[in-house]
Amino acid sequence: MIGKPVRYPLGLRVLHWLMAVLVVLMFALGLTIAYAPPADEARAHLLFNLHESTGLTLLALLLLRALLRLRGGAPALPRSVGRPVRVLARLNHAALYLLLLVQPVLGLLDAYAAGAPLVWYELVPVPLPIARQPKPISDALVAAHWWGAAALFAAVALHVAGAAWHGLIRRDGVVRRMV
Ligand code: HEM
Ligand code: HEM
Repeated sequence: MIGKPVRYPLGLRVLHWLMAVLVVLMFALGLTIAYAPPADEARAHLLFNLHESTGLTLLALLLLRALLRLRGGAPALPRSVGRPVRVLARLNHAALYLLLLVQPVLGLLDAYAAGAPLVWYELVPVPLPIARQPKPISDALVAAHWWGAAALFAAVALHVAGAAWHGLIRRDGVVRRMV
């Protein structure tokens, strides 16, 4: 690399890493509440509320991030990055943005359709204009939230593999753009 690496603006870098940590936490909480809920009722409820509230927080952070990103754009990639890799990275980033939007929305609909309205961190009730739905509909939303999680996991795995390839094998300065 010649000269100073061009980086994402500070706001986008902070949001990237904050959201990355929260997304990992969301997987841990989601899998725990779905497959290994604590026997203790109060604890189970706390984990549930943390999953749902943090998912809503992520949705708000995503909207802020999308605004910043649409206003400022992304810094140019090093010229050594070829066209196929550029296209793949673009598709991967678009999939990440889309899934980070869809997944919390499905989670919210899922919770409301099951008749369990959300109180954000037990502090702020979150109104949503859908009533409790018949079981087939709420089951379909639960399934959609599961597939959303699987798709997000796949997109993140590809993303991290790409970052490792740039950072450890190519050493082309791409990772430095986000740190
Ligand atoms: C980025 C955001 C989110 C991620 C990555 C995520 C991930 C997951 C995962 C991996 C599971 C366990 C698998 C499953 O049974 O579906 C799960 C379950 C669940 N999530 Fe989320 N979730 C997110 C946002 C939300 C939000 C915002 C809500 C509600 C407000 C929510 C409500 C639920 C509920 C109620 C379950 C229990 C099983 C079910 O009814 O689907 N999630 N989530
Ligand atoms: C849950 C985890 C993660 C999510 C959801 C995520 C999401 C994203 C998104 C949406 C972008 C596109 C940014 C934009 O153009 O506006 C991005 C860029 C980037 N991410 Fe991640 N990321 C995660 C984890 C990581 C990790 C663990 C690394 C590194 C080890 C990483 C390295 C990067 C880099 C280097 C870029 C800039 C790519 C470029 O030059 O265009 N990300 N990430």
